[in-house]
Formats: sequence, structure tokens, C-alpha cells
Amino acid sequence: MTNETHIELNNETEKQLEYMDLLNKIIREKASAKGRPLTACVVTFGCQMNERDSEKLKGILTRCGYELTDDETADLVLYNTCTVRENANLRLYGRLGHLSGMKKKDHDKIIGICGCMAQEPDVVKKLETSYPFTDIIFGTFNVYKLAEILYSHLTTGSRITDIWESNDTFTELLPTVRKYPFKSGVNIMYGCDNFCTYCIVPYVRGREKSRRPEDIIFEIEQLVKDGVTEVMLLGQNVNSYGKGLKAEVTFAELLRRVEKVVGLKRIRFMTSHPKDLSDELIEVMAASEKICDHIHLPLQSGSTEVLKRMNRKYTKEDYLALVEKIRKAMPDISITTDIIVGFPGESEADFEETLDVVRRVKFDSAYTFIYSKRTGTPAAAYEEQTDEATVKNRFDRLLKEIKNASSEVTGRYTGRTMPCLAESVNDHDPALITGRMSNNMLVHFPGDKSLVGKIVDVKITECKGFYYFGERV
Ligand code: 5AD
Ligand code: SF4
Repeated sequence: MTNETHIELNNETEKQLEYMDLLNKIIREKASAKGRPLTACVVTFGCQMNERDSEKLKGILTRCGYELTDDETADLVLYNTCTVRENANLRLYGRLGHLSGMKKKDHDKIIGICGCMAQEPDVVKKLETSYPFTDIIFGTFNVYKLAEILYSHLTTGSRITDIWESNDTFTELLPTVRKYPFKSGVNIMYGCDNFCTYCIVPYVRGREKSRRPEDIIFEIEQLVKDGVTEVMLLGQNVNSYGKGLKAEVTFAELLRRVEKVVGLKRIRFMTSHPKDLSDELIEVMAASEKICDHIHLPLQSGSTEVLKRMNRKYTKEDYLALVEKIRKAMPDISITTDIIVGFPGESEADFEETLDVVRRVKFDSAYTFIYSKRTGTPAAAYEEQTDEATVKNRFDRLLKEIKNASSEVTGRYTGRTMPCLAESVNDHDPALITGRMSNNMLVHFPGDKSLVGKIVDVKITECKGFYYFGERV
């Protein structure tokens, strides 16, 4: 391996591995003094980016000698936070309030906050003054520095706040602990340059930066050697992947290269911005054996006027035409979306336009959000914030419309045999396995845990709306 080919194995990576070794000694000493292993709990809020970051945090903590647990009574609790909507912030403060009691009883307990909320100066101020028992605070750009930050805290006894404004070094080759042994997220880019006017992500995740294709392929090859058969390529806007690289590469070209990784069976990606979805991407998807039959294509609003004020850079007609083009090339594809209700100034007529798109597109499923005002975003300053009762009424009507429209299409798989990746034993019934079809829908079917991680053929017997029942064939 040369540095030229894999620049991500850099000095920073080596430095962090050294901190992990140093911490490992300290943690082992503490464990032998306590007569039990030290435990760590990472709580994840928010999106798949955060899920992936948490796998990295868990990898570092494991290498430092911690035993992982889901129990917040652990010796170390780390909250990987989300701030995309205000609700997420409120949930964190609630959890922290609860922890303060535990910390009073156990002074050695370490409490950490990282992720998107930590990138907001007001939040950090509030944490430092109202939640003085927090021991380490770091942001989205230096996740890989957890061991160094923890080491500073343990050796000085003081609170460490380490927040960066940006970062140019990718540090992907550190240990991770994956939630599933057989599938993994892979960051292909970080940040976002789109500045949708409601969205805080560009402020807390910084400018868009793509990783080099050879580094991504190398990581995927390593994952496949480690038993992974499905990857989810992650970025805020994967369709603009490759901009700014020395040798510019399109997302479609990256997919062609990922497709060639021997042993990899399924490729997913998230999220696509409609304005950047190219014909080349549609061609590559249609021709591919491995790219799944699913595209998540956030609509946000069906009103061209609202879309303009959201700075989405497409019209209602553009979106409908794009869906038509995708369906023409891939008639069976499942299309899912995100929709925001109650954007400032959204009129009843604007909202009707959203309902119209839902009726016409018939999404397989949709995530719906009530607009949340985020300080510092342009939309927060817009007058005409919509009143709560109107928003609630529209939200309920939207849910109904989505359910009606999707029920017309999701039944199309009933009676068909579909390959499913068996992901886990069913939470409610241990005689069932929960698997995922290529279109991202869940199917429950009789089977035992030896199937987990395998792709098996399942005949779909019943559609339950947003999930299915089936039988192995
Ligand atoms: N209010 C409500 N929903 C939002 N989203 C992003 N920002 C906001 C906000 N301020 C939604 C968008 C995005 C999804 C991840 O979260 O629909 O696609
Ligand atoms: Fe936010 Fe828009 Fe970027 Fe998505 S594309 S992260 S909604 S600014």
C-alpha cells in the first residue's frame, strides 16, 4: 500500500491509533481496580451519516478497551446528536437531565456530546453553563479524534471542548464496529453546498467534499473481505459527487466502479437531490445487477413557488418529469421521498400542489416533517410562519394522501418471488426473519437465525402497507 494510492492512511490516523493504545492501558487499569470491564454506550440521533459516525466512535471505544452496551448506566455515555429539527435538540436536553442524577451518584461517569448540535455555538454555550457535568464536547469534523479528546480529559480531569469549523483530512481507516456484519454505510462525501433555506446541515456539516474514488473502492474491498455484501453510499447529495476532485468523477462513474467489486452483492445510496440527478445515473442504475431498485428523491414541496423560496432549484414539473424518466427506464423501481409541511408562507394552494404530486407519483413511502425553524437559516427570518393548527391539519391530510396513493402501488409485489437480504430475527416473533427486498421494503417470513446475512428468495404473500409477509421458496 503506498501513500499515493491511499492517502487516507495518514499521519493523523497513526497518531489516533497511538492514543487508542495509551487509553487502552488506562482503561485496563481502571477495569482491574473496579474488578469489571468498563462499559461505553453510544446513543445515536438522526440520519444515516450519524449512524455511520457512531460505528466509528464505537470502533474507537472498543479499541480503547471499553465493552459496548446500550445501557445508559455505562461508565461512558456519548450522545451523537442531530439538529435538523428542533425536536431532536429537545430530546437531547431531556436525556441529559436524566443523566445528571446518575452522574451525581457516580462521579467517574464520563458524559460526552458530539455530532451536529455541537457545531452550534449557542448549544455549546448552553451545555457548558446549564449542563456542567458534560465532560467532552466535540463536533462533526473531528469524530476520529475521540481517543485523543478522551485521553486529554482523563489525564487533566477537565472538560474538553474541541469544535472545528472544517476539516480537509479524511480519516477513514480507523477501526469501526458495524451494527450489521453483512452491510455497511460508506461515506463518499461530506457536507453540503446546496443551502436549502430551511436546512441547517450546510452550517453544521460544512462545505461539500468528495473522497477519492480509489479510496472509496479500497474501503469497500476491505469491507467485502470482512463479510459485507451490501453497501450504502452516503452523502447529503450523492448526485453531485466528484466535484472538486483532481480528476473529476461523476457519481454514475463511481457506481460503475463500485459495481466491479467482486463479492459485493448490493449497492444502495442516499440521498439524491432531484436537481443533480443525471441521465447517466439512470442509465447506470438500469443496467446494473447490483444497484438496488430504490431511489430516495426528496420532494420537500410540490409547489414551484415554495420550492423557489426553499432554494431547491427545480419546479413541480421538473420533478414530475424526472420521476417519469426514472420509471420509464426502471418500471419496477421504488421511489420514496421527504416532504416538509408548513414552510413559511405555504398557502392552501401551495399545499394542494404537494398533494397533487403525491397523488400523481404514488410514492412507495414518504417521510413527512413539520417545518422546524432553525436559527441562522434564511427561512427562519421569513415572515408569515404558518400557524400551528393549519400545519397540523395539513400534516394529517398529507399522511392520509400518502397512505392512499402508496396502497395503490405497494401491493404490486404480492405473489412475486423476490430476493431478500435476511437482516435479523423478528423483534416480535422469533419464528420470523425480517429481510429487506432490493426496493428497501421489509418482509417478514418464517425462518431461523442461520439465514441472517444471506440473500434468500421469498414469495410475497401479503402486503401490509409499508411492509410485507412472505414465505421462502
Ligand atoms: N424542518 C423540517 N424538516 C426539515 N428537513 C431538513 N430541515 C428541516 C427543517 N428545518 C427535512 C428535509 C430533509 C430531511 C432529512 O429532513 O425533508 O430531506
Ligand atoms: Fe439540507 Fe438541502 Fe443539503 Fe439536503 S440538500 S442537506 S435539505 S441543504
